[in-house]
Amino acid sequence: MLSSCLSRTTQSPVKYLVLRAFLNSWARVPQGPPDAILGITEAFKKDVHPKKMNLGVGAYRDDNGKPFVLNSVRKAEQLIFQEKFDKEYLPITGLATFTKEAALLAYGKDSEPLGEGRVSVTQSISGTGALRIGGTFLNRFYPHNKKIFLPTPTWGNHNAVFKDSGLEVGQYRYYDKSTNGLDFNGLVEDIQNAPKNSIFLLHACAHNPTGVDPTPQQWDQISEIIKERSHFPFFDMAYQGFASGDTNVDAYAIRKFVSDGHQICLSQSFAKNMGLYGERVGSFSIISENTKEKAAIDSQLKILIRPMYSNPPLHGARIASYVLSNPELNKEWLSEVKLMAGRIITMRDRLKKHLVEDFESKHNWNHITDQIGMFCYTGLKPEQVERLTNEFHVYLTKDGRISIAGISSHNVKYLAEAIHEVTK
Ligand SMILES: Cc1ncc(COP(=O)(O)O)c(C=O)c1O
Repeated sequence: MLSSCLSRTTQSPVKYLVLRAFLNSWARVPQGPPDAILGITEAFKKDVHPKKMNLGVGAYRDDNGKPFVLNSVRKAEQLIFQEKFDKEYLPITGLATFTKEAALLAYGKDSEPLGEGRVSVTQSISGTGALRIGGTFLNRFYPHNKKIFLPTPTWGNHNAVFKDSGLEVGQYRYYDKSTNGLDFNGLVEDIQNAPKNSIFLLHACAHNPTGVDPTPQQWDQISEIIKERSHFPFFDMAYQGFASGDTNVDAYAIRKFVSDGHQICLSQSFAKNMGLYGERVGSFSIISENTKEKAAIDSQLKILIRPMYSNPPLHGARIASYVLSNPELNKEWLSEVKLMAGRIITMRDRLKKHLVEDFESKHNWNHITDQIGMFCYTGLKPEQVERLTNEFHVYLTKDGRISIAGISSHNVKYLAEAIHEVTK
């Protein structure tokens, strides 16, 4: 009956349109804005200029500007292929060999809570999925309040992830525009002034978007103040190894907080440090007081995950598990992490050198080399960013963030010249 009413051939065109309008449910869905970063990539693709550069997206590129698949990953894939594994479902919390290794990588082999079996770990849909599991878990079970404080600025997706998890979102000071460095006093004040038992999101290393991390001494102080105020630290570690080139050095904050007795929770991503972007490999973990609490948390993580996506994808977790547990692959991977971090550090040096020595820029560009990790918060103003894109075909986010990993030895001088021109 309905199908004949809706048939074009049995109705007059007007009646047909009226009927369709009547049955349509989606007329009030508002058009949303495009994703800020993916929008940049779209614009970049359309640009035909030979010198165009995409410094918007946070993905590592080799010195020819090409996506980089790690050798250790390729070798792991070969081994997996030879094993002819089946494709059965994983358990709700994922591949146990992977989650065990992921936790070891973050917390370290001497970690007390790991040794005592009181860390709940689950595989996640990369870092974003881990943050979402954490946000939802805290919303359901954190007994004190439902507010999470994020650094200003922070990764663009944090806000949405935590709001969609049902948490209220607040801010704490982090970046000082006048120094292009850490606003340590502001950060300390905001942590001290937040209501006791607040949740604080901390970037474990290679802060996105600023590239500004606290020093180890500053982390020690932050840990102390967070403890005094009984706050709950939620660490996001999307770049372990990318800051210093050494996964242990980059885990300093995590391990310090844990040894200071904080019951942290942690989101880990293997998108960047293993180049497994599209494989969506990540892990969420949370420390409890004892094994009984851990068992209860494990059970609740399963209850939370099951209706979201039932169980996580298999292939990427197998790759990461091989790379982390096979001694030879692991050695090669650690050297590749060093190589990626090293190339980024070299690009920072060269960009600054070209600006200061070749183009004799009068500005202070020390923050290019002081900041670490994949990104540099250049301090460029929105109108300067616009000129970089319109006149020089360099694509970046409006806040002036550039992905250093997108620069190569072939175009670093061109970029320096472009930045110099728009900042004269
Ligand atoms: C700070 C931070 N957290 C989490 C993520 C999540 O990344 P993914 O979901 O690709 O692992 C990113 C990615 O850019 C990030 O920069």
